[in-house]
Amino acid sequence: MRLTVTMRAKPDPACQDASGAFPSRQSRSVVAESVRPRSAAAAGIAALGLLVLPVLLTPVSGQGIEEFFETSGEIVRGTAPETRLYWRSHVETSRERILRAVDSAGRREVATVLGAGLGMEIPLAELAGRFDRLVLVDLDGHSMLSSLRQLPRNLRSRVELKVVDVTSFASGLIESIARAVEISSSAADSFQRLGRILDGLEAGEPADLPPSDLVVSSLLLSEIPRYPFSYAAQALEGRFGVAIQTWERSDEFYRRLVELAVDDHVQLLRSLVTPDGVIYFSDTVARGLVRRSDDGAVRRTVEARATPHFVQLGLAESAAEVPSAVNRLCRAEHSPVTEAKAFERILSLYRESDSRFFEPLLPVGELRDRCTQRGLELRESPASWWWLAYPCRIRSGSGAFLVNSWILGLRD
Ligand SMILES: C[S@@+](CC[C@H](N)C(=O)[O-])C[C@H]1O[C@@H](n2cnc3c(N)ncnc32)[C@H](O)[C@@H]1O
Repeated sequence: MRLTVTMRAKPDPACQDASGAFPSRQSRSVVAESVRPRSAAAAGIAALGLLVLPVLLTPVSGQGIEEFFETSGEIVRGTAPETRLYWRSHVETSRERILRAVDSAGRREVATVLGAGLGMEIPLAELAGRFDRLVLVDLDGHSMLSSLRQLPRNLRSRVELKVVDVTSFASGLIESIARAVEISSSAADSFQRLGRILDGLEAGEPADLPPSDLVVSSLLLSEIPRYPFSYAAQALEGRFGVAIQTWERSDEFYRRLVELAVDDHVQLLRSLVTPDGVIYFSDTVARGLVRRSDDGAVRRTVEARATPHFVQLGLAESAAEVPSAVNRLCRAEHSPVTEAKAFERILSLYRESDSRFFEPLLPVGELRDRCTQRGLELRESPASWWWLAYPCRIRSGSGAFLVNSWILGLRD
């Protein structure tokens, strides 16, 4: 097994000198075998058994890019086993869908998993068994090593870990943000420099990865913009004690990152897949429930409509008992499988009632258009399901993700 670290640095508009010249483009490539110790902050949060989004991480000043990604991965790795029990149907569905995609691949030489992380929803052993070479790509080398250790020893030699940016812009951008905040004399100065970075944001060349008969992009795209944004938020908070939201262009910054990530990612998928190869794409497209001031009436309707399901699952005997049955979920009175089915029903009913109970995470229409423009077409009907990421928060706040998955190939 080989672990390769490759990073590309981009010109930094925030550090332009008076002549407008940029520092020279750098690149490095090393082979790394060792792993870093856990950061105390991440270990502490992980011990609480929470799956925390990177934006909630404690700011760590001067944190390097790989360390930043590894700290985020540390928290996912530390998710409590009880929480993971609720992930089972999501994990199984995802693995089944990926294996369906494998069946449509013309050849079985190279499979590449982008943003592989821990690979929990990826059938890594099956992929390593069915392809000559399995390439895992992520900026979080720690998580990939953990996933590798779960594989049977005889398959590990087919696996290659690449600690590489899957985008043409994220690592360069994070480096630019770090420098911009570091050399600023005030928050206002940082905002000005970040503004210049934002104005100059553009995609570069796709990452240098092997042509692949299967390309897997699972739960990655919606994460791509969040890492540089969270990095900027942490850097500002750490150096000047200000929230990124106080920057008037903060929303614009995030929107631009999403737009760039979509375009960049589709271009990468297109560049990697072989002519008779196949792409498995999935992502979290919406998050819910979003609390709303008028949710009382909707909640009553949803709970009434959920009655037959709750009765069938043995959670209630009549409509009158459903509200208290909902309140008793996550109190270890029932199996996580039963509770997961109840949650899924409730979420689907909310979604049918009013889509505003879900916050969109990806511009799905734009993504579909980009795929079509780049010559990618669907090979199968899309599928969607729920991932109960933080099941016990669903009743009081966002805890579930709607996942969409597509199997794509090149148009003839
Ligand atoms: C939600 S996880 C995907 C789930 C993953 N299969 C798992 O089980 O952990 C998103 C992954 O994308 C990676 N990622 C995000 N932006 C990246 C980038 N620009 N380059 C490489 N990896 C990136 C993160 O490190 C993380 O492991």
